[in-house]
Parts: sequence; C-alpha cells; structure tokens
Amino acid sequence: MGNGTVLIVDDEPNAVKVLSAILLEADYNVVESIDVDMALKALHQEDVDVIITDLRMPGRDGMQLFEYVTENHPDIPVIFLTAYGSVDSAVHAITHGAFYYFIKPPDYLKLKSILSRAVEQRRLKREIDTLRKRLAEETSLPRIIGKTPQMLKIFNTIETIKDSESSVIICGETGTGKELIARALHFGSDRRDRPFVAVNCAAIPRELLESELFGYEKGAFTGAVSRRIGRFDEASGGTLFLDEIGELELSVQAKLLRVLQEREIERLGSNRKIKVHFRLISSTNRDLGREVKTGNFRKDLLYRINVIQINVPLLKERQDDIPLLVSEYVNEFCIREKKVLTLSDEVMGIFQDYHWPGNVRQLRNVMERAVVLSKGDTITSRELPEEFISLKKREEPLHSLKTLSEVESEAVRNALRVCNGNKSKAARLLGISRKALYKRLKDWKIE
Ligand SMILES: Nc1ncnc2c1ncn2[C@@H]1O[C@H](COP(=O)(O)OP(=O)(O)OP(=O)(O)O)[C@@H](O)[C@H]1O
Ligand SMILES: [Mg+2]
Repeated sequence: MGNGTVLIVDDEPNAVKVLSAILLEADYNVVESIDVDMALKALHQEDVDVIITDLRMPGRDGMQLFEYVTENHPDIPVIFLTAYGSVDSAVHAITHGAFYYFIKPPDYLKLKSILSRAVEQRRLKREIDTLRKRLAEETSLPRIIGKTPQMLKIFNTIETIKDSESSVIICGETGTGKELIARALHFGSDRRDRPFVAVNCAAIPRELLESELFGYEKGAFTGAVSRRIGRFDEASGGTLFLDEIGELELSVQAKLLRVLQEREIERLGSNRKIKVHFRLISSTNRDLGREVKTGNFRKDLLYRINVIQINVPLLKERQDDIPLLVSEYVNEFCIREKKVLTLSDEVMGIFQDYHWPGNVRQLRNVMERAVVLSKGDTITSRELPEEFISLKKREEPLHSLKTLSEVESEAVRNALRVCNGNKSKAARLLGISRKALYKRLKDWKIE
C-alpha cells in the first residue's frame, strides 16, 4: 500500500472491482465507492491522495464530485474515466483543473503512469504548503529583545526547556511578551514543524469554549451541521498555547484537567476516545495562587500546568532594555514608512522615567506613532502622546529652576485669566495693591 491511497468512484461494481484489483497489484491502497455520496464519506474518513471517478452516474455525477473536491480538497488530483459519448464533458473538466481523463476502457499501463504522477503532484503540493507555512511563521517570528539579567535568565530557561514535554506557565502583566515567549518555545523546539495552536481563553465566549477545545460531531447540538476538529486535536503532536488561562471557568478547568491526566478526549456528541498529545504552554496575568485561595482556580490544575514557571518582568523593571527595543522599533517602522530618523536624547530620557503600564506593547505603539508623525530627521517629544508630555511638564521644575520674576509674571497672568481681566479683582487675589499690579503689568508689557 506504499504508493498512496486511491479513491475509485463508479456506479458499475464490476468496473470498480477490476480497477481496484489492478491498483492493489500496483501497491496502492484502494477505497471503493459506487456513488458520489459514498465517495464524500470516504473523503472525510480517509487520507485520499487521488480520485479516479466515472463521469456519468445516476444521482450526483462525477462532475459534481469534481466541483466538491475543487472546493474542499483542492490538492487532491481527480482523474476521470468516461464513456466515448461524454468526452466533451471530460475535456471541460480538464480545462477546469482535472488532472487527466481516460476513455473507457482505459489503457491500464498508461493509467498507472498517470496515477503515479498525480500522487507525486499531490505530495509536492503538500510539501510546498508546509514549507510556505513554515517560512511565513519563521519570518514573521520576531526576535525577543533584551539584554538585562532578567531577560537573559528567560532566554536561558527557554533554551533549556524548549524540547521538554513538561507544561510551562508564563506569568506577567499585559504586553510584557508572554505570547512571544510561548512562540519562541515552540518554534525554537524540535516541534517547530508541528502545529502551534493558540487559544485565547478570555476572547472566546464561555458557551463556545468547550466545543472550540474539544470539537464536535455532526449533529452534536443544534447548529453542529458538520464535524469540527477541536483545538486539543489540532494541537496534537505540537504545542497548545492557552492564553489567559486564568479566565477559564471552573467546569472547563475540570475538563482540561482530565485531558491533561488522560491524554485523550471525546468530541461533543461522540463517545469515541481520541488520543491527543501536545505540549501545554499557558499564560496568565493573574496571581493564580491567589485565585486558588479564592476558589476561582483549581489547585490540582495549577499543579499540572505550572511544572515550569517563567515570570516576565515589567518593562519599567528592566529599563536597560528600553534603548534596545526603541532602536529595533525605530528601524522597523522607518523601513516601513521609508524614513530616516534618529531619536532625541530628550525622548530617551522621558522613556527612562515613564512607568509603562502597557509594557513592551505600549512602547511599540508609541514608537510606531512617533515614526509616522515625525516630519524632520529626529523624533522629539512633540511626537509623543499626551501622557508623556504632561509627565515632562510636571518634572520640569526639577530640571530647570525658574527665576523669581518668571514665577511672578506667571502668577499675574494666571490671576488675570481667572478674573477675566478684572485688574482690581486680580490684585486682591494676588494680595498686592492695584498700583503694584499696574507697575508690574507695565514692566512686563502685559496688556
Ligand atoms: N522582549 C521583546 N522583544 C521584542 N518584542 C517584544 C518583546 N516583548 C514584547 N514584545 C512585543 O510586544 C507586543 C506584545 O507582546 P505579547 O503579545 O507577547 O504580550 P503578552 O504578554 O502576551 O500581552 P497580553 O497579556 O496583553 O496578551 C508584541 O508586538 C511583541 O512582539
Ligand atoms: Mg498575550
């Protein structure tokens, strides 16, 4: 059965039998069906490499099967067998992407050679697909930037544990890079060719989460119109990333625990057990120990998922990484925006003092905005959002002391503004005489 799986579709049982025998002889795995419905079922259940189908059949015909396959399994080549009278349709199918057609009875020698080409084509298509996907993932995988001791420690941990099977939990505030670390763990490991399946437990509505994770059989509930593979299934052989695992409700926690213990699942609406084998990486910005105490998180589940814990520090706790990140993002966005920009020391100073509640994500957004807004060749504080500027103003007296007369003139202007320009009132507010006020207005040329 080493050459591949061929699905044969023909309403004439004898024709199926003959072809089937020939292909078995040629070391193919054969799936037989005598109508299109049967063929569709087989397509669901088997990993079919090539379809050989009769064109004219009662009920749905070969052309309809071909349309279904083009739509749903575009990588499976279809070869038509057709009676002499329907050559036109077969030619039509060829122009729409069918692999080949034979007039019945076919030259079996030729059929076998075409078949092996079809199998080869499918194999290549799949290979190209995986390579393309992998390339896209690798090139879109950003580096984790950092040189502070805290980050170096994380790099070290990633390197040590990446190929292990143990569950990992990544803890940290929003935007600190938890997902990035999860991806680095997967794509740096020997599982990199297997799936990385990320589920955001906070983003999926509660009532959908279970079917999302476990999948379901057709008809498992109203609306389950076809079978659906769950995320556990999908991640099998690779990594399952449960983002914001602290948001799981208790009933789903219990089910997850079972899966982790038994390493098998049942789809909703089915009692067939399916083996699943994935590495679990979870992330949270909650203190799960505290959630356990308040009864919102299962203790036994916490033990299971935090075999290895990675704690990602806040950006403000690793200030030395800021210049590194800034220059990375200035580069990235300058290339995108086709600009050449440098960052003023003033801005770098502001960044070092800022508290970064949104951590690296916020820094990235701030840099994107600044690069887009910059007109000259330097990024200045003018290109920063409001909260950075007010921060700067608040701290200004510390850096540059004002002279007494600057302070006085500011006070006079403020008093006049508050009193809508009424000088008597303003003088009273300032605790000086009207005469004294007039003198100052004259000195400072205030109208
Ligand atoms: N050390 C880092 N080096 C480079 N980019 C980083 C780093 N940390 C975070 N980022 C970037 O910051 C953004 C947020 O990171 P990520 O999504 O991994 O954070 P998170 O911790 O999962 O946040 P949340 O809890 O909000 O989901 C991403 O664009 C990511 O590429
Ligand atoms: Mg995240």
